Amino acid sequence: MSHSSILLVVLVLSFSAALSELCNPQDKQTLLQIKKELGNPSNLSSWIPHTDCCNNNWEGVTCGSETESYRVYELDFSDVYLPKPHPIPPSIGNLPYLKTLYINMMPNIVDTIPSTIAKLTNLRHLSIKYTSISGQIPLFLSQMKTLESINFSNNKLSGKLPAWLPSLPNIYSISLDSNRFSGAIPYSFGSFREGFALLSLSDNRLTGKIPATLGKLDLKLVDLSKNMLEGDASLLFGSAKHSDTIRLANNMFAFDLGKVGLSKNLMILDVSHNRLYGMLPKGLTSLKDLLSLDVSYNNLCGEIPQGGKMKGFYDSAYAHNKCLCGSPLPSCKPF
Ligand SMILES: *[C@@H]1O[C@H](CO)[C@@H](O)[C@H](O)[C@H]1NC(C)=O
Ligand SMILES: *[C@@H]1O[C@H](CO)[C@@H](O)[C@H](O)[C@H]1NC(C)=O
Repeated sequence: MSHSSILLVVLVLSFSAALSELCNPQDKQTLLQIKKELGNPSNLSSWIPHTDCCNNNWEGVTCGSETESYRVYELDFSDVYLPKPHPIPPSIGNLPYLKTLYINMMPNIVDTIPSTIAKLTNLRHLSIKYTSISGQIPLFLSQMKTLESINFSNNKLSGKLPAWLPSLPNIYSISLDSNRFSGAIPYSFGSFREGFALLSLSDNRLTGKIPATLGKLDLKLVDLSKNMLEGDASLLFGSAKHSDTIRLANNMFAFDLGKVGLSKNLMILDVSHNRLYGMLPKGLTSLKDLLSLDVSYNNLCGEIPQGGKMKGFYDSAYAHNKCLCGSPLPSCKPF
């Protein structure tokens, strides 16, 4: 074959390779720009320019189906090692079909959440965990009406909890655990839409009483542990609710635990290290799914209800109260 016909064959082959490629050219260009903005980390060595970004070989990249025109809809940066600090790549905002964005276990991700994120008008799940991002939760996230879940746990975020969070029309889950948020839980948090199910704010610097409006919510999971919250949290309970996890440990809550109604779905109840008083609710014995119970370090009194799943808990679950008694603690003194 002559040189020119070899050239022709090469051209035809590379042309057909480009034709059979599913990756959208703009998405590919954006992904390569993101890689550059992260300093070309070795974990992303599978992001090779002349290969198809939708062939499942590009680490963390998932494309939609044919009906979704194979646009990139999920980006998962988990445990991508960065030798030097970098902000979240602003180019991420140029993946308009993105539904899920995970940035996880990347301690060298720094600075604030970039405003280009607000361009992701299809984003449903935003998860930035175990990074060093800081600053406040930016107001531009309030424009992202498609958001269903936000998980910003284990970062260095600070400031007050944004009062606008409940205005997200599709939100069902918010986790802001292990950051530096301060101030009170906003009154507006009572107006999360019906269907809002998970609120996790543990290990921050939240203070004050929890707003009574929160009693209107039917939360599957509520975790307010490790803050400096005080007053009545009994409004989070209720026999008509569907809670499976209630964690209030390590605060200064003070209310009569004996008077709360218990969700039939309750699996985990941790109210340890507070100032709760009264007796243990009798209803504990009829909870079929109760897996974990901790009421230690409170001011509770009276006989521990016997029966049901209560057999499975050790004395440590009841330790350091005012006068709890009965198995597994010493028996109650006869009057
Ligand atoms: C990224 O690379 C580091 C070593 O540099 C390795 O420990 C880690 O498991 C890699 N992460 C992934 C997601 O492959
Ligand atoms: C948010 O991320 C943390 C840390 O990985 C995890 O434990 C928690 O369950 C997540 N929250 C939700 C609601 O999925």
